[in-house]
Amino acid sequence: MKIFLDTADLAEIERAAEAHLIDGITTNPSLLAKSAGDREPEEMFLDICRAVDGPVSAEVVAVDAAGMVSEGRKLAAIHENIVVKVPLTEPGLRACRALREHDIRVNVTLCFSTTQALLAAKAGATYISPFVGRLDDIGHDGMEIVRDIRQVYDEYDLETEILAASLRHPRHVLEAMLIGADCATLPPKVLYQSMKHPLTDRGLDAFLADWQSLGKEL
Ligand code: E4P
Repeated sequence: MKIFLDTADLAEIERAAEAHLIDGITTNPSLLAKSAGDREPEEMFLDICRAVDGPVSAEVVAVDAAGMVSEGRKLAAIHENIVVKVPLTEPGLRACRALREHDIRVNVTLCFSTTQALLAAKAGATYISPFVGRLDDIGHDGMEIVRDIRQVYDEYDLETEILAASLRHPRHVLEAMLIGADCATLPPKVLYQSMKHPLTDRGLDAFLADWQSLGKEL
């Protein structure tokens, strides 16, 4: 499963990319607004693309298909790693098809049902982003749609990659892996939580204490 970092924070992106922990980046307008300060979005996307060797999702903000296509083409022109993100609306699916005809990769976002995911795949989406945590927030089992989408895409041989999104904790990451999601996008906090285990820390402390007691050097 590919691991993407869900952030527009360049310092976090550089930290994870330098350690080869991630395969790409997802952003959204909220994440961009959080990290932008006085920087222009184009400049931010270019910096992110230079920091990571992998797909970088950049989202349109137009709500009509023509506007999405025009913004999407501008975003795609920033760098070859840009994947244009469009919302799962009727104009979004039209824009998806049009952008794919220009050979631009598309991540269809804000997916909350398996039927939506089927329609996105039929529109040629490169990635579908089911939002797990936001479904959990309203009392559903968000991971259930990732499971269902996997089944449907396999059943009909659809090539769209499942990008599990809105993941809030390491358990979500584990479940996405077990289901066979193609990718998962993790906020930095969840990435580092997923790396940690108390027994690893305790084991290391014991090894170091025993080594210390030996009084030798390597
Ligand atoms: C995915 O592409 C989105 O940026 C993200 O995963 C949304 O997560 P949230 O529901 O925690 O905001």
